[in-house]
Amino acid sequence: MSIRIAVFLICFCSAGLNLSAQPSGRKNFDANWKFHLGDIPQAEQPSYQDLKWRSLDLPHDWSIEGSFRPDNPSGHQGGLLPGGIGWYRKRFELNPAEGKKYFIVFDGVYKNSTVYLNGHALGTRPYGYATFQYDLTPWLQMGENLLAVKVDNSKQPDSRWYTGAGIYRHVWIVTASDIHVAQWGTFVTTPKLSTKEATVSIVTKIENEGKEKANFKMISTLLDATGREVATHLQGDKAEPNSVKEVKSTLILKSPILWDIEHPVLYQLTTRIYVGKELKDSYTTPVGIRSIAFRTDSGFILNGKPVKILGVCDHHDLGPLGSALNDRALQRQLELLKSMGCNGIRCSHNLMAPELLELCDKMGFLVMDETFDCWYIGKDAAPFGFQNYFREWHEREISDMVKRDRNHPSVIFWSIGNEIKEQWFPGSTNGGEIARELVGIIKKYDTTRFTTSAFNFVRDAEKKGMTAAVDVVGFNYTIDAYDELKGKHPDWFYLASETTSQFDSRGVYHFTLDSIAKTFPDGQTSAFDDAGGGTTHEEAWKAVKERPWMAGMYIWTGFDYLGEPAPYEKTAVSSYFGIFDLCGFPKDSYYFYKSQWTREPMVHLLPHWNWKAGQSVDVVAYTNCDEVRLSLNGRPLETKKLKDSRRLSLRWKVPFEAGVLKAEGYLNGKLVATDQVKTAGDAYKIELTADRANLNASGNDLSFVTARITDENGTLVPGADNLIHFELEGEGKIVGLANGNALSLEPAKGSERRTFSGMCLAVIQTTSDKGSMVLKASSPGLKECKITLSSH
Ligand code: GAL
Repeated sequence: MSIRIAVFLICFCSAGLNLSAQPSGRKNFDANWKFHLGDIPQAEQPSYQDLKWRSLDLPHDWSIEGSFRPDNPSGHQGGLLPGGIGWYRKRFELNPAEGKKYFIVFDGVYKNSTVYLNGHALGTRPYGYATFQYDLTPWLQMGENLLAVKVDNSKQPDSRWYTGAGIYRHVWIVTASDIHVAQWGTFVTTPKLSTKEATVSIVTKIENEGKEKANFKMISTLLDATGREVATHLQGDKAEPNSVKEVKSTLILKSPILWDIEHPVLYQLTTRIYVGKELKDSYTTPVGIRSIAFRTDSGFILNGKPVKILGVCDHHDLGPLGSALNDRALQRQLELLKSMGCNGIRCSHNLMAPELLELCDKMGFLVMDETFDCWYIGKDAAPFGFQNYFREWHEREISDMVKRDRNHPSVIFWSIGNEIKEQWFPGSTNGGEIARELVGIIKKYDTTRFTTSAFNFVRDAEKKGMTAAVDVVGFNYTIDAYDELKGKHPDWFYLASETTSQFDSRGVYHFTLDSIAKTFPDGQTSAFDDAGGGTTHEEAWKAVKERPWMAGMYIWTGFDYLGEPAPYEKTAVSSYFGIFDLCGFPKDSYYFYKSQWTREPMVHLLPHWNWKAGQSVDVVAYTNCDEVRLSLNGRPLETKKLKDSRRLSLRWKVPFEAGVLKAEGYLNGKLVATDQVKTAGDAYKIELTADRANLNASGNDLSFVTARITDENGTLVPGADNLIHFELEGEGKIVGLANGNALSLEPAKGSERRTFSGMCLAVIQTTSDKGSMVLKASSPGLKECKITLSSH
């Protein structure tokens, strides 16, 4: 057995949102932009009049505001939504002070953005997932200034999934002294860590952009979660004019409290720079302390103990919000995932918003940070993809990923690419060489995490030296290669970087269970864990569970996403793969994972109980109890025990009879959990429930309101597809509607939505005024419903 222990790492994280490593002079710059869809020559010029342009606050995604149209060049893979060129402008007052520096930071613009200040081009960034900053100082003027951004997402298809378009993440303005901590200018590791003491090593990059040599003092202070100072270090140094000085310092932290997935405990580092008595800069860096390692026999090790990675892959869109970032929407996704026992996120296949990593730090997730869905050879579905920029930009993009994210305790892997075609493409021989180059770039900036790549042709990748180039071999699917590769290379480390790809439509069941059909006339797939793409959920999890040396898995996917609507690539517009649908409503697979990954006793029965009299119905129970006693209308049916099942679930065939099918879960002979499905009568009323009714009047807090069509007794009507009309009065607005039906071409914006399998979602956003809101849902022939939300 071999073992490799990574350098112990101390990382930056936060107790609240928006707390990546950052300077004190950073301010949000999202408010009051002007937007125009379409190209306008000279729109960067201050003299151009934008009075007729639309006013909006960022983050903004113009694609999701459009219609799903077959003639949109994004195609079904891109969700049939529009791309094009868009312009953003913002006028702002700023009186630049002598000796001060001003920077603008974009967390993400999709894509090909060119930023101008007062008519001067500051730069162009093709990659739509990059976080980048420009120095505004040379072109700033006293009084009014004009920032203009041209976003060019016109060449499509450029992606295998929906990307969104526009300035879809936050924007920040940073004011700094001429001497300051550089962008992403802190990196902290703990080369020695024990329960008694952590040696905290900090590398700080200090930029002196002044004309004079500066003698400075740097004070690094570590605060614990309560804000108490627990270690501090002072040192002096000099920085030449126009230079970057790297300063190394060490702190000793007594009795460190470790970050882990159950107790994601965070510290904070403050770095203060003084010249004489003047405080020139203050830079805060949230901190988490943990050790990570890999063992050939037991996979991933966190703080000395094996931890199975129970993760999901996700794209960046937020269903009906498109890719416009909303912190609460991200937080809700992670809360939902945590509730099924999930502990990992793979950023597929590109950089995510910094806020996602902050939340993962705070909530305890194990993250695979990833960049690139292709290198030099593009994917067929995306002729205008990143392959066109790879040569010029790969070094910058991959090094920026590491520099931006290397202080997050949640990040444990750097992935150099997903299903890269250089693995197998005829005539391509340089896969190993490129992999080594990319890994080499990463290691220049961070040697404390594990490099990996998601291989779907792992045998070919092995022949080309690609698997040998990374620290951990990521298997995408290919369960049959798990033992083969492990047998050949027992000293390597392994991970199921992507699994499953099961097609599931929420609340839809096609009989018989285990039918091999992949498509059905209704354009839906079955929520039974049977039809579809890669493997069933059960098979994928079983393969990982049974192999202790396999570090864990990232399932394709946690949430449905827009685009890539396999297996209905010619009709549907969003995916079928999610454990949650586009609304965030759980499909049955959610309960499968809950039964495997959580301990609280539970049982979940499927399918619903509206069938034809006498029809033979396949019934499944997901449970973590020893046995399930099933009864129909009070009559006991067969009791089944997990230990007698070859599967990780229980199955029955039950002749249908209207009424109540009930499952009782027993543990050690004691009734500990129940579930039931009940035959619904005719659709009678709408029921509304909000995930949160007390909101913040922050202008961007959200309530996710579920509408259900039920019979008179409140039982969900499984097939109901009524059109619901929503009206909102008060201090809020409806910002998104969805129903989880991948075939639906109804717009995400507006006030009407059909239910799918009896349910749909309205997303309500607060304004910055306090008050209450009343949401009314009505539909012809149904009893309407109102719900009140308040915003403080
Ligand atoms: C994988 C790929 C994912 C997604 C998935 C769908 O091979 O890595 O991006 O396309 O297939 O099954």
